[in-house]
Amino acid sequence: MATYEEDFHTSLKDPEKFWGAAAEDLKWFRKWDRVLDNDNPPFSKWFPGGELNTCYNCLDRHVEEGRGEQTALIYDSPMTGHVEKFTYQQLTEIVARFAGGLTSLGITKGDRVIIYMPMVPEAAIAMLACARIGAIHSVVFGGFAAKELATRIDDAKPVAMIAGSCGLEPGRIVEYKPLLDEAIEISSHKPDHCVILQRPEVTASLVEGRDVEWKELAGRSEPVDCVPVKATDPLYILYTSGTTGVPKGVVRDNGGHAVVLKWSMKHVYDIDPGEVFWAASDVGWVVGHSYIVYAPLLHGCTSILFEGKPVGTPDAGTFWRVIQDHGVKALFTAPTAFRAIKQQDPEGKLIGDYDISHFKTLFLAGERADPDTIVWAQDTLKVPVLDHWWQTETGWPMGANCSGYGIKPVKLGSPTLPVPGYDIRIIDEEDAVSEMPAGDIGVIAVKLPLPPGTLQTLWQNDEGFLKSYMEEIPGYYKTGDAGFVDEDGYLFIMARTDDIINVAGHRLSTGGMEEVLAGHKDVAECAVIGAKDSLKGQIPMGFVVLNAGVDRPEGDIVRELVALVREKIGPVAAFKEAMVVKRLPKTRSGKILRGIMRKIADGEEYRMPATIDDPEILAEITVALEQAGYPKS
Ligand code: COA
Ligand code: AMP
Repeated sequence: MATYEEDFHTSLKDPEKFWGAAAEDLKWFRKWDRVLDNDNPPFSKWFPGGELNTCYNCLDRHVEEGRGEQTALIYDSPMTGHVEKFTYQQLTEIVARFAGGLTSLGITKGDRVIIYMPMVPEAAIAMLACARIGAIHSVVFGGFAAKELATRIDDAKPVAMIAGSCGLEPGRIVEYKPLLDEAIEISSHKPDHCVILQRPEVTASLVEGRDVEWKELAGRSEPVDCVPVKATDPLYILYTSGTTGVPKGVVRDNGGHAVVLKWSMKHVYDIDPGEVFWAASDVGWVVGHSYIVYAPLLHGCTSILFEGKPVGTPDAGTFWRVIQDHGVKALFTAPTAFRAIKQQDPEGKLIGDYDISHFKTLFLAGERADPDTIVWAQDTLKVPVLDHWWQTETGWPMGANCSGYGIKPVKLGSPTLPVPGYDIRIIDEEDAVSEMPAGDIGVIAVKLPLPPGTLQTLWQNDEGFLKSYMEEIPGYYKTGDAGFVDEDGYLFIMARTDDIINVAGHRLSTGGMEEVLAGHKDVAECAVIGAKDSLKGQIPMGFVVLNAGVDRPEGDIVRELVALVREKIGPVAAFKEAMVVKRLPKTRSGKILRGIMRKIADGEEYRMPATIDDPEILAEITVALEQAGYPKS
């Protein structure tokens, strides 16, 4: 195998040679005409002319190659006490039959299907079944409310929805069906069919003529074969937070995606076919798409689908139990999960109750990995702890310690080096052209063309794609992150440059929350910031100015605001705090100084902007935050 340095160099100098070789590891129905068509940048296309099927490469091919008896998927649910294993043979049959069910509903290549499911194997089965027939899936995270689901229905215009009757959260059952019905009620687009998985905990009532039970549909259907799709055809749309309340529909292709995900299993994660890989995330997030479902299966691994939390299901030893019971070689999770475990078991005593001697590497991503958490994990687990950096848009890591080439020295606070394929530059924010010298912070951009597997565009919104990512720094993809590269070429990701915050590894838009607060009848104006939190990394904090003449108790209004965000966006927003203030700090041109409010909340020093309208307001905000107990950590 080549070294990291050799591969990195080739991947940038001759991307066609590099990714063309990686593509040989997949089964194609028709070979590509060109590896890369970059005639119309930034709309570059990977493997045009090629035809394949992602589900075939995840399942059928392994059965044909003798992996049929190997476990493909393990569902481990401390929420229900259930563990279920599926071999490649079994999973292929189940997916083929369910795909037949979808076909019998008239769903066909290019149709959109929204999947709104908890962490049950049927979520992965539904995704793979869509891929099998060329339908484009869009998974919506279960923690989002009906309104968020409705926005996605109106954007994706699905012909069908696939949903579970309920999700299970510690201490509470979340009924999905009423949320689904409400979403369809408020959306303008109406899907023709809803396939409902009835879980034992809740039996949802069905709407006649529209809804069908999963079991009944699968029971009456015949298995269908994989449909060849173009490498450039969309595999899925995944909505992610942008700077406004309207989410962005990231479009992923079939060919480039399959090529890089398979490649990444060995080169980034050092996993071989037949080994067990566990991404403790949710299928509603990009990590779940890429590393619970697609990449491990493309590579012939065993993947774990875990329905539980790092703590409380039943305790902070649950991760070690899963690693022990299923022979997990590498775990991928968010630092927040480890902060939760560390909080409950500070000395990591519970690790001693399990045999995890086969466990080799811990990978962290989703938010900045704070040095304390990394050191704690290193000390207690005694394995390499590797931070890596990526986004929904890229679908796989941009910066990592690519362990398949041999692990590089770890620098705390850095996800290490750019992954082959990514030409990462730190650009001066002032002119959006010059590159920053080593050690200086700038905006992080990737020189085009992006490698395979990254976003193709936004769903039916090329203009939004260009505006959000491609226009500000011509010739580059703007990541939305700020950071620097040190003298050894190590990346350091410091902050977002926009209104996105990261709460317990979940990406959320403060703009979206502001839209909800502004909708309250008593609110004149508002701002939401992400304040530091020792467990979740950041938590949202709202500031509202009330309309003149409102004399209701402030506590009542705050409670209503908290409930409103939960109702409109969902519990995952974790919006629990808001305060009423007399005024918001602004520049003379009227821009709210959210960055400074965040610094005050976090107890950081800040410079008084020359353009501030009235410096006195900052003193008022400081007092209000101090009274509310900020800074918290
Ligand atoms: N369906 C319905 N509700 C959900 C949900 C789902 N799929 N996922 C989360 N929620 C709810 C939670 O129950 C919680 O509700 P509450 O306000 O009534 O308590 C709320 O959304 C906030 O959830 P979360 O931020 O996850 O907090 P938590 O207290 O439940 O758990 C952690 C905290 C750290 C244990 C948890 O966030 C975690 O395991 N994070 C791992 C990170 C991760 O998976 N990241 C994904 C990208 S890698
Ligand atoms: P998401 O699209 O939900 O995966 O969130 C992507 C964003 O999370 C990135 O743009 C970063 O701001 C942040 N992020 C992800 N991984 C890391 C990491 N390893 N270090 C720092 N920030 C990260």
